[in-house]
Amino acid sequence: MINYTEKIPNNVDLGRDRVLQRALEHWQPAYLSWWYDMGPNESHNFEVYLRTATSVEPDGWAQFDYVKMPEYRWGIFLQPRDEKRQVNFGIHKGQPAWQDVPGEYRSILRRIIVTQGDTEPASVEQQKMLGLSCPSLYDLRNIFQVNVEEGRHLWAMVYLLHRYFGRDGREEAESLLARRSGDTDNPRILGAFNEPTPDWLAFYMFTFFTDRDGKFQLCALAESGFDPLARTCRFMLTEEAHHMFVGESGVSRIIQRTCDVMKENKIDAPADVRSLGVIDLQTIQRYLNFHYSVTLDLYGSDVSSNAANYYTSGLKGRFRETKLEDDHTLRDAMYPVSEVVGDKINTKQVPALTALNERLRDDYIEEIQAGVNRWQRVIDEAGIPFRLTLPHKGFHREIGNFTGHFISTTGEILTEEQWKAHEFEWLPSPKDYSYVQSLMSGRVAELGKFANWIAPPVKGVNGQPLDFQYVRFN
Ligand SMILES: [Fe+2]
Ligand SMILES: [Fe+2]
Repeated sequence: MINYTEKIPNNVDLGRDRVLQRALEHWQPAYLSWWYDMGPNESHNFEVYLRTATSVEPDGWAQFDYVKMPEYRWGIFLQPRDEKRQVNFGIHKGQPAWQDVPGEYRSILRRIIVTQGDTEPASVEQQKMLGLSCPSLYDLRNIFQVNVEEGRHLWAMVYLLHRYFGRDGREEAESLLARRSGDTDNPRILGAFNEPTPDWLAFYMFTFFTDRDGKFQLCALAESGFDPLARTCRFMLTEEAHHMFVGESGVSRIIQRTCDVMKENKIDAPADVRSLGVIDLQTIQRYLNFHYSVTLDLYGSDVSSNAANYYTSGLKGRFRETKLEDDHTLRDAMYPVSEVVGDKINTKQVPALTALNERLRDDYIEEIQAGVNRWQRVIDEAGIPFRLTLPHKGFHREIGNFTGHFISTTGEILTEEQWKAHEFEWLPSPKDYSYVQSLMSGRVAELGKFANWIAPPVKGVNGQPLDFQYVRFN
């Protein structure tokens, strides 16, 4: 169980380590001041129907109640330790899992934790303005839930930095509050986390595509031989599932509403669809293309000696590492990666150890495809002949083997000029963004009401009805 009587709720017996406790209590006001500046705009007095973790056990971990977000009980929760756990891959396979940082891996591990930690506050910053244009109280509550949990994920990484990395760790923890998404001088570390999230369609796409990158990264780190990192990531994953639900169901509800309006009015031209105040399926496809391609970049280069090192050292595993049946060292295994040769995209076999980024990306793509198929079902059930598709893996990429090539959504290699001529058939144009934003000019805050461009969800939060007061504005 989690001790909520302490200043920093935790299940790591924080009170026993006074120095650490004091260091974290010192970081806490800096975190709160970051939240006041960079958390959801104008929200500090709202009472939000939020869930708070009460235990790390799989059942009954959440408690729902009204909370003012700055008073949310951010804390430190690790999955309980398994005394028998081992390093399960790489050259240390079979050794007991490390309870402390192995000296030789200190700087790599710190880098991994900082890179993960940096994405958490970044997404809160990206979503800061969206509360002002929410489509319902239900959705407003959901974005706030996502935001406070991303804040908690930052706490999770900062705990590891403070607890295991001494002074360097404390400095990194401060820098995590100093970088800003999209800032030219001091940006967040990864590209996708510096892109704006300007509207609710972008938000749902982000939580579907980019939070799912988070899931896959956390799954790989949950396999880590460094046990405190593995246990931290396992608990974070239980929270991440809700973020992806918000994204998938949000896009699905937008598609549903568009299809309903198209059917009712027997229309299919995008201009006609827009004239009725809903988002045309073509624009949804363009948003999908954008978020998918920038998220694919987050996995890094197709062939990477860093990825090989992380694996060989036992620091970052594969997706579901312990469920895979092989030698878990990948000594002789090969893996296919794509490369552009002349005017062709070829596949070549490379040592699997060096292709671990690509492999994680492929695992991710498989799960993404299943989600897109579920969206497609909504369109099919409405009897509308439109196909939502994932663009080619090489489309609009800035990292890895496709960088610098101009590849169409269907995988043809084009010249820059040819590509540019199609750019806004494939990616949202400034006009698309301004149309979508024109639908979201104000907050829909009446009980049980939903904006015209989105269908209501199937059910409310925690068994509450759809017209429940999910947020009190005070
Ligand atoms: Fe997160
Ligand atoms: Fe998330």
